Amino acid sequence: MDAMSNQRQSRQGYPSDAMVSTHHLTKRYGDRTVVDDLNLLVPRGSVYGFLGPNGSGKSTTMKMLLSLVQPTGGDIIIDRRPMNRRTRGEQLTHIGSLIESPPGYGHLTGEENMRIVQRLLSLSDRQIDAAVHAVRMESQMDKLVRNYSLGMKQRLGIAMALARSPQLLILDEPTNGLDPAGIEEIRELLARLRDQGVTVIVSSHLLGEIDRTCDTLGILSRGRLLFQGTRSQLFSKATPDLLVETDDPAKAKALLESRGYTGLALEDRALAVPGVGSHDTTADIIAWFVSQGLRIFMVRRREQSLEDIFMRLTGAGSL
Ligand SMILES: Nc1ncnc2c1ncn2[C@@H]1O[C@H](COP(=O)(O)OP(=O)(O)OP(=O)(O)O)[C@@H](O)[C@H]1O
Ligand SMILES: [Mg+2]
Repeated sequence: MDAMSNQRQSRQGYPSDAMVSTHHLTKRYGDRTVVDDLNLLVPRGSVYGFLGPNGSGKSTTMKMLLSLVQPTGGDIIIDRRPMNRRTRGEQLTHIGSLIESPPGYGHLTGEENMRIVQRLLSLSDRQIDAAVHAVRMESQMDKLVRNYSLGMKQRLGIAMALARSPQLLILDEPTNGLDPAGIEEIRELLARLRDQGVTVIVSSHLLGEIDRTCDTLGILSRGRLLFQGTRSQLFSKATPDLLVETDDPAKAKALLESRGYTGLALEDRALAVPGVGSHDTTADIIAWFVSQGLRIFMVRRREQSLEDIFMRLTGAGSL
């Protein structure tokens, strides 16, 4: 997009189907850029999965969306209006959030905590009941929060965020520390919220916890957005490995290295060559091997898993 049409778009507001968009959003601490020129686009009514390794800038970005951290540069548009110090008072009445550790007073019951939220925000009994129902916590409300499991604390935190009937819900690592059943409950909750028309941005540093529940994924690494789109778009970026079984895999490896190939791996009697998508390249490699006296027993492709794609995108072992 050229500078002119970019300008025109930002003056008119942003596509009405976007609940959140950021434009060159940047955060620096000293000379360290921790969020780098981010252009997020979160479709209205979707669940947006914000994935990235530890320290990639997820929490910092979410805090900027909530006006808890001041951006160094760029714009944030939420529901077609800019989010900044001047507008945040009004904007935040439509946004629920759970950032880092769950809120709530341990020496009070779940019920008492919810009543505090109700009074602070002047909410109706119906809103409180609906929020508690959404996280399936009705039977736990008379217990002290300090006796809750981590999963129950997370759910109470989400109920507090939901109580204001937000259009947008921002959840930072709500699955952190939960067991598989707790994670499944969060997934189901995300799906229910989407059915109710709430837009959700949810982060995780672990692949596999929430990505299947998300309509759109944004993948962050070292403050930069490496990918934004659907899971199937992400899969379509994958280039498969070529597995070549030969009588001398070490020689085959040396030959390809002499041509600048990297990431080659020996596996039993086969050589794995990453990222070979095209038929032409495959044919060239095999013809060259044969011309160099190698005997080829079998050639096949191995598709990449989502984990492989993440690893290649982020260079991180944790995803
Ligand atoms: N107030 C601050 N001052 C200086 N550096 C900060 C500050 N807050 C965050 N950072 C740095 O910014 C980077 C991004 O941090 P952030 O918490 O946003 O990452 P994250 O993706 O949420 O990581 P995690 O998965 O561990 O929660 C980190 O290197 C962190 O050390
Ligand atoms: Mg974080």
